Amino acid sequence: MSSVSSNRGYAEIHLGAFEHNVRELKSKVKTQLMIVVKADAYGHGAVPCALAARSAGADWLGVAYVDEALQLRHNKVAGPILAWLLHPEDNFEEALSESIDLSVSTLDQLHRINQVAQKLDVEASIHIEIDTGLSRSGIPLENLETWLTEVKNSSHCKLISLWSHLAASEDLSHRANEVQLQNFQAAIQLADEIGVSYEFVHVANSAATLLSPELHFGMVRCGIAAYGVTPGGDVGDIKSHNLRPVMRIVSEIAQVRRLETGDGVSYNHTWIASKPTNVGLIPVGYADGIPRSAGNKAQITYQGKQFPIVGTVCMDQFVVDFGDEDIRVGDEIEIFGNGIDAHTFNQTTGGIGYELVTRIGSRLEKRYVDSHEHL
Ligand SMILES: Cc1ncc(COP(=O)(O)O)c(C=O)c1O
Repeated sequence: MSSVSSNRGYAEIHLGAFEHNVRELKSKVKTQLMIVVKADAYGHGAVPCALAARSAGADWLGVAYVDEALQLRHNKVAGPILAWLLHPEDNFEEALSESIDLSVSTLDQLHRINQVAQKLDVEASIHIEIDTGLSRSGIPLENLETWLTEVKNSSHCKLISLWSHLAASEDLSHRANEVQLQNFQAAIQLADEIGVSYEFVHVANSAATLLSPELHFGMVRCGIAAYGVTPGGDVGDIKSHNLRPVMRIVSEIAQVRRLETGDGVSYNHTWIASKPTNVGLIPVGYADGIPRSAGNKAQITYQGKQFPIVGTVCMDQFVVDFGDEDIRVGDEIEIFGNGIDAHTFNQTTGGIGYELVTRIGSRLEKRYVDSHEHL
């Protein structure tokens, strides 16, 4: 029996494809473009992707946490960066010194940021998220008037944008879309009546960018589409939007064995060979981000053809049924990427492409391809 190959697997990140996607998204809109690089750029590497996004023409970069924004600054990523999920212990002093735009969602945050800005003698660039129906973060419409008045009276805060986030933008027939748009328009109208000045408004994520030009407003905030993964629903196949997958998870066959009819595979024998067959061991598992639930559901790609994962996915390995294919130890396989895209792979497990790419474990080295000067 052969030993496990040292080339266990890696995440190939095609920065050329990423830049293509950023340029393509930019060409689809007449507004500013934010590329969302939170969660380590959806698992693709925050700093290389942020630098590549900038060089491909992204006007803004978006992150959830202040720490994520500071990580970019510490790595020489310049230009506008917005962080939208603040925490009481965030270092607002450093954030303002580093010119990070902050989206505030409590009055306490607003007051603290104003105080820090006063102390530093700078003007804080702030943004307000309005909850138009997601019922997650953001300011409820009924509190907006109080809020806008507070912002108007904040001596060291400048309001840059009003924004919201959509609940079901990939599902064009969902009634939340219409309700959220109406609420957003009501919020803009209120701000205009109160006479608060701001620079622009925005609501669109990837799906709304690709499907709903009426939602583009002053900026679109694209995450998943920039990584060449579909948000699903009515967006359909990402390649039909001329966007390319950026991440491929590549591994190789570590062991080959012939099974006989009736042989059970992996924990609890959730798959039993119904005829003699060649199976290959892939030395990547759920500790590397391949969902355990992909067993007996998802397929991988080998030499342009698809083959099923059989039995339970283990922590470090899973088994693929190659039938009568003449497989060899060391042969390369692609778990997902170009052959089977991340969304299709993970849909079989009841998940979405977002989950798959953001959860790739640290044991899989990221190998950047077509990286220009971004590393
Ligand atoms: C506030 C906000 N805007 C934009 C995005 C980007 O969404 P998508 O990846 O669907 O483009 C996200 C991601 O979840 C988000 O939280």
